[in-house]
Amino acid sequence: MSETFAVELQDVVKQFGDVIAVNHVSLRIKDGEFFSLLGPSGCGKTTTLRMIAGFEMPTGGAIYIHGERQGYRPPNKRPINTVFQNYALFPHMTVAENIAFGMEMQKTPRDEIKRRVDEALAMVRLSNMANRKPKQLSGGQQQRIALARALVNRPKVLLLDEPLGALDLKLRKAMQIELKALQEEVGITFIYVTHDQEEALTMSDRIAVMNNGIVHQVGDPETIYEHPADRFVADFIGETNFIPVKVVSLSPVIEVALGSGEKVIAGWVEEGISVGDRAVLSIRPEKMDLLEPHEAAEVKAKDVARVRGKVTHLVYVGTDTRHSVTLGDGTEVVVRLQNMYIGEEPWEIGEEAIVTWNAAHARILKE
Ligand SMILES: Nc1ncnc2c1ncn2[C@@H]1O[C@H](COP(=O)(O)OP(=O)(O)OP(=O)(O)O)[C@@H](O)[C@H]1O
Ligand SMILES: [Mg+2]
Repeated sequence: MSETFAVELQDVVKQFGDVIAVNHVSLRIKDGEFFSLLGPSGCGKTTTLRMIAGFEMPTGGAIYIHGERQGYRPPNKRPINTVFQNYALFPHMTVAENIAFGMEMQKTPRDEIKRRVDEALAMVRLSNMANRKPKQLSGGQQQRIALARALVNRPKVLLLDEPLGALDLKLRKAMQIELKALQEEVGITFIYVTHDQEEALTMSDRIAVMNNGIVHQVGDPETIYEHPADRFVADFIGETNFIPVKVVSLSPVIEVALGSGEKVIAGWVEEGISVGDRAVLSIRPEKMDLLEPHEAAEVKAKDVARVRGKVTHLVYVGTDTRHSVTLGDGTEVVVRLQNMYIGEEPWEIGEEAIVTWNAAHARILKE
Protein backbone atom coordinates (compact mmCIF):
# COMPACT_ATOMS: atom_id res chain seq x y z
CA MET A 1 0.00 0.00 0.00
CA SER A 2 1.45 3.32 -0.96
CA GLU A 3 0.19 6.46 0.74
CA THR A 4 -0.48 9.41 -1.54
CA PHE A 5 1.52 12.49 -0.65
CA ALA A 6 0.75 16.11 -1.50
CA VAL A 7 4.17 16.36 -3.10
CA GLU A 8 6.72 13.63 -3.58
CA LEU A 9 10.24 14.00 -4.97
CA GLN A 10 11.93 10.80 -6.04
CA ASP A 11 15.68 11.01 -6.43
CA VAL A 12 15.49 14.46 -8.04
CA VAL A 13 18.65 15.94 -9.56
CA LYS A 14 19.14 19.37 -11.13
CA GLN A 15 22.32 20.28 -12.87
CA PHE A 16 23.19 23.70 -14.33
CA GLY A 17 26.33 23.07 -16.40
CA ASP A 18 28.93 21.90 -13.87
CA VAL A 19 26.86 22.95 -10.86
CA ILE A 20 24.77 20.25 -9.21
CA ALA A 21 22.17 22.48 -7.55
CA VAL A 22 20.01 19.59 -6.30
CA ASN A 23 21.69 16.27 -5.70
CA HIS A 24 19.47 13.17 -5.51
CA VAL A 25 16.77 14.63 -3.28
CA SER A 26 13.84 12.48 -2.16
CA LEU A 27 11.06 14.03 -0.07
CA ARG A 28 7.53 13.06 0.86
CA ILE A 29 5.38 16.01 1.90
CA LYS A 30 2.04 15.17 3.48
CA ASP A 31 -1.32 16.71 2.73
CA GLY A 32 -1.95 19.78 4.88
CA GLU A 33 1.59 19.87 6.15
CA PHE A 34 3.67 23.00 6.77
CA PHE A 35 6.94 21.77 5.35
CA SER A 36 10.10 23.90 5.24
CA LEU A 37 13.24 23.66 3.15
CA LEU A 38 15.98 25.13 5.33
CA GLY A 39 19.62 25.69 4.48
CA PRO A 40 22.31 28.27 3.76
CA SER A 41 22.43 30.43 0.65
CA GLY A 42 23.04 28.45 -2.53
CA CYS A 43 22.07 25.06 -1.06
CA GLY A 44 19.36 24.45 -3.67
CA LYS A 45 16.13 25.52 -1.92
CA THR A 46 14.77 27.79 -4.67
CA THR A 47 15.77 25.33 -7.38
CA THR A 48 13.86 22.56 -5.57
CA LEU A 49 10.80 24.80 -5.28
CA ARG A 50 11.00 25.89 -8.93
CA MET A 51 11.07 22.26 -10.04
CA ILE A 52 7.96 21.48 -7.97
CA ALA A 53 6.27 24.53 -9.54
CA GLY A 54 7.33 23.51 -13.07
CA PHE A 55 9.54 26.53 -13.78
CA GLU A 56 12.57 24.23 -13.99
CA MET A 57 12.73 20.67 -15.28
CA PRO A 58 14.72 18.12 -13.26
CA THR A 59 17.81 16.64 -14.87
CA GLY A 60 16.88 13.34 -13.22
CA GLY A 61 14.24 11.78 -10.98
CA ALA A 62 10.51 12.37 -10.77
CA ILE A 63 8.08 14.77 -9.08
CA TYR A 64 4.56 13.74 -8.09
CA ILE A 65 1.77 16.07 -6.95
CA HIS A 66 -1.12 14.24 -5.29
CA GLY A 67 0.13 11.02 -6.79
CA GLU A 68 0.35 12.31 -10.35
CA ARG A 69 3.67 12.37 -12.09
CA GLN A 70 4.25 15.91 -13.38
CA GLY A 71 6.84 15.33 -16.12
CA TYR A 72 6.86 18.32 -18.46
CA ARG A 73 3.54 19.75 -17.27
CA PRO A 74 3.79 23.58 -17.30
CA PRO A 75 3.35 25.65 -14.09
CA ASN A 76 -0.21 26.79 -14.90
CA LYS A 77 -1.35 23.18 -15.27
CA ARG A 78 -0.15 22.18 -11.79
CA PRO A 79 -2.50 22.41 -8.77
CA ILE A 80 -0.10 24.76 -7.00
CA ASN A 81 0.71 28.41 -6.63
CA THR A 82 3.87 30.26 -5.72
CA VAL A 83 4.61 33.32 -3.59
CA PHE A 84 8.06 34.72 -4.27
CA GLN A 85 10.21 36.93 -2.10
CA ASN A 86 9.80 39.88 -4.45
CA TYR A 87 6.05 39.82 -4.78
CA ALA A 88 5.19 42.13 -7.65
CA LEU A 89 1.83 43.83 -7.19
CA PHE A 90 0.58 46.03 -10.05
CA PRO A 91 0.98 49.60 -8.72
CA HIS A 92 -1.84 51.16 -10.81
CA MET A 93 -4.45 48.58 -9.70
CA THR A 94 -6.30 48.47 -6.40
CA VAL A 95 -5.80 45.63 -3.97
CA ALA A 96 -9.01 43.96 -5.17
CA GLU A 97 -8.01 44.32 -8.84
CA ASN A 98 -4.60 42.84 -8.08
CA ILE A 99 -6.20 39.80 -6.49
CA ALA A 100 -8.80 39.47 -9.28
CA PHE A 101 -6.27 39.79 -12.11
CA GLY A 102 -5.70 36.06 -12.72
CA MET A 103 -9.42 35.30 -12.69
CA GLU A 104 -10.14 38.18 -15.10
CA MET A 105 -7.64 36.65 -17.49
CA GLN A 106 -9.46 33.32 -17.23
CA LYS A 107 -12.79 35.06 -17.88
CA THR A 108 -14.26 33.94 -14.56
CA PRO A 109 -17.82 35.31 -14.08
CA ARG A 110 -18.03 38.71 -12.37
CA ASP A 111 -19.96 37.68 -9.25
CA GLU A 112 -17.70 34.69 -8.66
CA ILE A 113 -14.63 36.93 -8.91
CA LYS A 114 -16.14 39.30 -6.35
CA ARG A 115 -16.99 36.48 -3.95
CA ARG A 116 -13.56 34.91 -4.17
CA VAL A 117 -11.71 38.20 -3.80
CA ASP A 118 -13.75 39.01 -0.67
CA GLU A 119 -13.04 35.55 0.71
CA ALA A 120 -9.28 35.87 0.05
CA LEU A 121 -9.14 39.33 1.60
CA ALA A 122 -10.93 38.04 4.69
CA MET A 123 -8.41 35.23 4.99
CA VAL A 124 -5.52 37.69 5.21
CA ARG A 125 -7.61 40.08 7.34
CA LEU A 126 -7.48 43.02 4.94
CA SER A 127 -11.13 43.28 3.88
CA ASN A 128 -11.20 46.99 4.64
CA MET A 129 -8.33 47.73 2.23
CA ALA A 130 -9.82 46.37 -1.00
CA ASN A 131 -9.86 49.77 -2.72
CA ARG A 132 -6.41 50.95 -1.78
CA LYS A 133 -3.42 51.04 -4.12
CA PRO A 134 -0.35 48.94 -3.14
CA LYS A 135 1.73 52.02 -2.28
CA GLN A 136 -0.86 52.93 0.38
CA LEU A 137 -0.05 49.71 2.24
CA SER A 138 2.78 48.75 4.58
CA GLY A 139 5.29 46.07 3.56
CA GLY A 140 3.52 43.45 5.65
CA GLN A 141 0.13 44.34 4.20
CA GLN A 142 1.52 44.13 0.66
CA GLN A 143 2.91 40.73 1.50
CA ARG A 144 -0.51 39.60 2.72
CA ILE A 145 -2.04 40.81 -0.58
CA ALA A 146 0.52 38.73 -2.46
CA LEU A 147 -0.63 35.78 -0.32
CA ALA A 148 -4.29 36.53 -0.98
CA ARG A 149 -3.55 36.60 -4.71
CA ALA A 150 -2.00 33.14 -4.45
CA LEU A 151 -4.79 31.77 -2.24
CA VAL A 152 -7.60 33.05 -4.48
CA ASN A 153 -6.86 30.31 -6.99
CA ARG A 154 -7.43 27.75 -4.24
CA PRO A 155 -4.23 25.87 -4.85
CA LYS A 156 -3.86 22.51 -3.14
CA VAL A 157 -0.24 23.31 -2.51
CA LEU A 158 1.27 26.73 -1.90
CA LEU A 159 4.98 27.25 -2.47
CA LEU A 160 6.56 30.15 -0.60
CA ASP A 161 10.11 31.29 -1.31
CA GLU A 162 11.38 33.44 1.58
CA PRO A 163 8.10 35.38 1.54
CA LEU A 164 9.01 37.38 4.64
CA GLY A 165 12.58 38.15 3.59
CA ALA A 166 11.92 41.80 2.77
CA LEU A 167 10.23 42.62 6.08
CA ASP A 168 11.86 44.04 9.20
CA LEU A 169 12.39 41.70 12.14
CA LYS A 170 9.36 42.70 14.19
CA LEU A 171 6.92 42.48 11.30
CA ARG A 172 8.55 39.26 10.20
CA LYS A 173 7.89 37.68 13.62
CA ALA A 174 4.27 38.83 13.59
CA MET A 175 3.76 37.53 10.05
CA GLN A 176 5.28 34.15 10.98
CA ILE A 177 2.52 33.64 13.52
CA GLU A 178 -0.19 34.90 11.14
CA LEU A 179 1.01 32.79 8.26
CA LYS A 180 1.09 29.65 10.40
CA ALA A 181 -2.43 30.38 11.71
CA LEU A 182 -3.66 31.00 8.16
CA GLN A 183 -2.14 27.73 6.95
CA GLU A 184 -3.88 25.80 9.74
CA GLU A 185 -7.15 27.55 8.95
CA VAL A 186 -7.18 26.90 5.20
CA GLY A 187 -5.55 23.47 5.46
CA ILE A 188 -3.45 23.96 2.32
CA THR A 189 -0.07 22.24 2.10
CA PHE A 190 2.65 24.88 2.46
CA ILE A 191 6.18 24.31 1.19
CA TYR A 192 8.18 27.10 2.70
CA VAL A 193 11.73 28.08 1.82
CA THR A 194 13.87 29.90 4.36
CA HIS A 195 17.49 30.19 5.43
CA ASP A 196 16.37 31.35 8.89
CA GLN A 197 16.48 28.42 11.31
CA GLU A 198 14.39 30.14 13.96
CA GLU A 199 11.67 30.86 11.40
CA ALA A 200 11.68 27.22 10.29
CA LEU A 201 11.56 25.92 13.88
CA THR A 202 8.69 28.28 14.77
CA MET A 203 6.43 27.58 11.82
CA SER A 204 7.01 24.09 10.48
CA ASP A 205 5.43 20.72 11.06
CA ARG A 206 8.54 19.24 9.47
CA ILE A 207 11.80 20.62 8.14
CA ALA A 208 14.24 19.36 5.51
CA VAL A 209 17.74 20.67 6.28
CA MET A 210 19.75 21.09 3.06
CA ASN A 211 23.35 21.87 2.20
CA ASN A 212 25.11 21.71 -1.17
CA GLY A 213 22.06 20.25 -2.89
CA ILE A 214 21.77 17.41 -0.40
CA VAL A 215 19.07 16.83 2.21
CA HIS A 216 20.89 16.11 5.47
CA GLN A 217 17.85 15.45 7.67
CA VAL A 218 14.06 15.58 7.61
CA GLY A 219 12.18 15.82 10.88
CA ASP A 220 9.91 17.84 13.14
CA PRO A 221 11.49 20.88 14.83
CA GLU A 222 12.21 19.04 18.09
CA THR A 223 13.88 16.13 16.34
CA ILE A 224 16.00 18.45 14.20
CA TYR A 225 17.11 20.43 17.26
CA GLU A 226 17.50 17.65 19.84
CA HIS A 227 18.65 14.82 17.59
CA PRO A 228 20.68 16.32 14.75
CA ALA A 229 21.73 13.57 12.34
CA ASP A 230 25.17 14.93 11.57
CA ARG A 231 27.63 17.71 12.22
CA PHE A 232 26.19 20.02 9.57
CA VAL A 233 22.69 19.93 11.10
CA ALA A 234 24.02 20.26 14.67
CA ASP A 235 26.06 23.28 13.62
CA PHE A 236 23.47 24.98 11.41
CA ILE A 237 20.57 24.71 13.85
CA GLY A 238 21.13 26.56 17.11
CA GLU A 239 24.41 26.55 18.96
CA THR A 240 26.45 23.41 19.60
CA ASN A 241 29.72 22.55 21.28
CA PHE A 242 31.93 20.13 19.37
CA ILE A 243 34.55 18.36 21.46
CA PRO A 244 37.17 16.28 19.59
CA VAL A 245 37.17 12.67 20.82
CA LYS A 246 38.40 9.19 19.99
CA VAL A 247 35.93 6.33 20.10
CA VAL A 248 36.80 3.82 22.85
CA SER A 249 33.80 1.50 22.69
CA LEU A 250 30.42 1.26 20.98
CA SER A 251 28.85 -1.51 23.05
CA PRO A 252 27.44 -2.13 25.59
CA VAL A 253 27.86 1.63 25.99
CA ILE A 254 29.15 4.31 23.65
CA GLU A 255 32.33 5.56 25.26
CA VAL A 256 34.79 8.16 23.98
CA ALA A 257 38.03 9.67 25.23
CA LEU A 258 38.72 13.39 25.16
CA GLY A 259 42.14 14.82 24.32
CA SER A 260 42.83 15.07 28.07
CA GLY A 261 42.35 11.31 28.44
CA GLU A 262 39.08 11.73 30.34
CA LYS A 263 36.42 9.26 29.24
CA VAL A 264 32.72 9.93 28.93
CA ILE A 265 29.73 8.02 27.64
CA ALA A 266 27.28 9.28 25.02
CA GLY A 267 23.70 8.61 24.01
CA TRP A 268 24.00 8.19 20.26
CA VAL A 269 26.57 7.59 17.57
CA GLU A 270 26.32 8.46 13.88
CA GLU A 271 26.30 5.52 11.50
CA GLY A 272 29.67 4.62 10.01
CA ILE A 273 31.78 5.45 13.07
CA SER A 274 33.98 2.62 14.41
CA VAL A 275 36.02 1.99 17.57
CA GLY A 276 39.33 3.85 17.30
CA ASP A 277 37.94 6.56 15.00
CA ARG A 278 38.33 10.25 15.61
CA ALA A 279 34.97 11.98 15.97
CA VAL A 280 33.32 14.90 17.72
CA LEU A 281 31.06 14.86 20.75
CA SER A 282 28.23 17.30 20.14
CA ILE A 283 26.39 18.83 23.09
CA ARG A 284 24.20 21.95 23.35
CA PRO A 285 25.30 24.73 25.77
CA GLU A 286 21.99 24.65 27.67
CA LYS A 287 22.34 20.91 28.33
CA MET A 288 25.54 21.45 30.34
CA ASP A 289 26.14 22.43 33.95
CA LEU A 290 29.10 23.55 36.04
CA LEU A 291 29.93 22.09 39.45
CA GLU A 292 32.61 22.82 42.00
CA PRO A 293 35.13 19.94 42.10
CA HIS A 294 33.93 18.82 45.58
CA GLU A 295 30.29 18.84 44.40
CA ALA A 296 31.17 16.81 41.33
CA ALA A 297 32.84 14.17 43.50
CA GLU A 298 29.45 13.52 45.12
CA VAL A 299 27.80 12.75 41.78
CA LYS A 300 27.90 8.99 41.45
CA ALA A 301 25.50 8.49 38.53
CA LYS A 302 27.21 6.65 35.68
CA ASP A 303 25.27 8.44 32.99
CA VAL A 304 26.56 11.88 33.96
CA ALA A 305 29.68 13.07 32.18
CA ARG A 306 32.27 14.95 34.25
CA VAL A 307 35.11 16.82 32.60
CA ARG A 308 37.62 19.18 34.20
CA GLY A 309 37.84 22.74 32.95
CA LYS A 310 38.60 26.32 33.77
CA VAL A 311 36.21 29.25 33.41
CA THR A 312 37.70 31.76 30.96
CA HIS A 313 34.93 34.16 30.06
CA LEU A 314 31.44 35.15 31.19
CA VAL A 315 28.74 36.96 29.23
CA TYR A 316 25.54 37.94 30.99
CA VAL A 317 22.65 37.85 28.48
CA GLY A 318 19.68 38.41 30.81
CA THR A 319 17.86 35.09 30.77
CA ASP A 320 21.12 33.25 31.23
CA THR A 321 24.87 33.65 31.40
CA ARG A 322 27.22 32.16 28.81
CA HIS A 323 30.21 30.60 30.51
CA SER A 324 33.22 29.90 28.30
CA VAL A 325 35.17 27.00 29.74
CA THR A 326 38.49 25.64 28.50
CA LEU A 327 38.78 21.88 28.87
CA GLY A 328 41.98 19.96 29.65
CA ASP A 329 42.87 19.51 25.98
CA GLY A 330 42.39 23.21 25.22
CA THR A 331 38.92 22.84 23.65
CA GLU A 332 36.69 25.76 24.51
CA VAL A 333 33.05 25.05 25.24
CA VAL A 334 30.13 27.32 26.07
CA VAL A 335 27.89 26.43 29.02
CA ARG A 336 24.63 28.39 29.32
CA LEU A 337 23.34 28.64 32.86
CA GLN A 338 19.92 30.09 33.49
CA ASN A 339 19.84 33.10 35.83
CA MET A 340 17.26 31.58 38.10
CA TYR A 341 18.12 33.36 41.36
CA ILE A 342 19.17 36.94 41.85
CA GLY A 343 22.32 37.35 43.88
CA GLU A 344 23.58 33.83 43.27
CA GLU A 345 27.34 33.53 43.66
CA PRO A 346 28.67 33.78 40.12
CA TRP A 347 31.52 31.78 38.70
CA GLU A 348 34.76 33.65 38.49
CA ILE A 349 37.21 33.82 35.65
CA GLY A 350 40.10 31.46 36.25
CA GLU A 351 38.08 29.22 38.57
CA GLU A 352 38.38 25.44 38.24
CA ALA A 353 35.06 23.82 37.38
CA ILE A 354 33.72 20.42 36.47
CA VAL A 355 31.61 20.52 33.35
CA THR A 356 28.81 17.98 33.55
CA TRP A 357 26.05 16.82 31.26
CA ASN A 358 23.63 13.99 30.99
CA ALA A 359 25.22 11.40 28.70
CA ALA A 360 21.96 10.94 26.81
CA HIS A 361 22.30 14.46 25.39
CA ALA A 362 25.75 13.86 23.93
CA ARG A 363 25.93 12.71 20.30
CA ILE A 364 29.00 11.29 18.63
CA LEU A 365 29.24 12.64 15.08
CA LYS A 366 31.76 12.40 12.26
CA GLU A 367 34.38 15.16 12.35
N1 LIG B 1 19.68 29.26 -13.66
C1 LIG B 1 20.82 28.88 -13.09
N2 LIG B 1 21.95 28.70 -13.80
C2 LIG B 1 23.09 28.32 -13.21
N3 LIG B 1 23.23 28.05 -11.89
C3 LIG B 1 22.15 28.22 -11.13
C4 LIG B 1 20.88 28.64 -11.66
N4 LIG B 1 19.99 28.71 -10.66
C5 LIG B 1 20.66 28.35 -9.54
N5 LIG B 1 21.95 28.05 -9.80
C6 LIG B 1 22.96 27.58 -8.85
O1 LIG B 1 22.42 26.48 -8.15
C7 LIG B 1 22.76 26.53 -6.77
C8 LIG B 1 21.48 26.51 -5.93
O2 LIG B 1 20.80 27.75 -6.12
P1 LIG B 1 19.42 28.09 -5.41
O3 LIG B 1 18.93 29.36 -5.97
O4 LIG B 1 18.53 26.91 -5.50
O5 LIG B 1 19.89 28.29 -3.91
P2 LIG B 1 19.06 28.75 -2.61
O6 LIG B 1 19.21 27.68 -1.62
O7 LIG B 1 17.70 29.16 -3.01
O8 LIG B 1 19.91 30.02 -2.12
P3 LIG B 1 19.41 31.44 -1.49
O9 LIG B 1 19.16 31.18 -0.02
O10 LIG B 1 20.60 32.32 -1.69
O11 LIG B 1 18.20 31.89 -2.24
C9 LIG B 1 23.63 27.74 -6.59
O12 LIG B 1 24.97 27.34 -6.65
C10 LIG B 1 23.26 28.61 -7.77
O13 LIG B 1 24.33 29.45 -8.13
MG1 LIG C 1 16.66 31.00 -3.00
